[in-house]
Amino acid sequence: MDQPRARVLSGIQPSGQKHLGNYFGAIAQYLALQDEFPGECYFFIADYHALTSLRDPPALRESVREVARTYLALGLDPHKACLFRQSDVPEVTELMWLLASVTGIGLLERAHAYKDKVDKGLKPSVGLFTYPVLMAADILIYQATLVPVGKDQLQHVEMAQDMATHFNEAFPTDPPPLCRPEPRLSSAAVVPGLDGQKMSSSYGNTIGIFESGKALKKRTGQIVTDSTPLGAPLDPDKCNVFALLKLVLGPEQRDELAGWYRAGTRAGQPFGYGHAKQLLAERIETHFAAARARREELVAHPEEVERVLAESAERARRLARRTLDACKRACGLT
Ligand code: ADP
Ligand code: TRP
Repeated sequence: MDQPRARVLSGIQPSGQKHLGNYFGAIAQYLALQDEFPGECYFFIADYHALTSLRDPPALRESVREVARTYLALGLDPHKACLFRQSDVPEVTELMWLLASVTGIGLLERAHAYKDKVDKGLKPSVGLFTYPVLMAADILIYQATLVPVGKDQLQHVEMAQDMATHFNEAFPTDPPPLCRPEPRLSSAAVVPGLDGQKMSSSYGNTIGIFESGKALKKRTGQIVTDSTPLGAPLDPDKCNVFALLKLVLGPEQRDELAGWYRAGTRAGQPFGYGHAKQLLAERIETHFAAARARREELVAHPEEVERVLAESAERARRLARRTLDACKRACGLT
């Protein structure tokens, strides 16, 4: 197979409204990769994977659309990166079978994500158990060399490396049909939620990327702080509001704000958490203003989103077919 020097791929869960943790922890890095590797970035919305937990067809459809709008609004450029539905390339499920045939049960039994879910009392489906095989097919079918993921997905990428090796060794051809992907961990720190824990849709402590106006002010107003009275000195490094503000301020503004915190005053007036929360709401609103407007346009023009998804899927599918054909030839299926 022709192997690219670098090809980036990642899957995005179709979990509807994305939050600031998703943006600063993942989306911003993905979008930066399209400038580093223009034309070689493949991002797909993992709707097959979502079926292991979601049984609500309208909700799944709408979540997929919302995720696509979110990425496009935030700057995904379809000329530089493909953005498509996983299920629009059904070849991945066929490659999954080929990989499953060379994968030992033991490898899957060691998956942390699977074990955690079972430990929490979830009755596992075969789909949940074989989730890492589908994920490996996702990665390997596009000959991806670089897979940006969060820490929780690292083991799954390592499993994809193992499956590529097992397949190439089981069916040796020259060149081997599958190439080895490398994970790339995002270096961003964990973004705290309203309660100071990691921001996560499963904890209900999120601020949505596109929240604005009163709703946004209400959210920032809910951020947990200590009870230091207005005008007393505050420690910025122990404050969730400051941690979030740091993400949307430049370095000079950040230092100035830290000064107000430590002094407990701003321009001779008392400064407290309430002011910081107000500032945070304003800053989030301006930081994402252009993206919010673009998202509104996409809501009004769903055909534009569908066009990007369809065109990207076509390109991705061509690539997927080539890999699948090579794998089928290697194992004697054609
Ligand atoms: P959630 O916890 O809301 O379900 P996901 O697990 O779907 O979020 O995460 C999607 C991506 O966003 C992952 O790459 C993950 O590392 C990143 N991410 C999610 N929450 C945070 C956070 N609070 N801080 C930094 N990155 C995050
Ligand atoms: N499992 C990933 C997650 O939960 C999503 C995903 C599916 C993925 N297939 C992938 C990520 C392939 C990277 C590569 O976030």
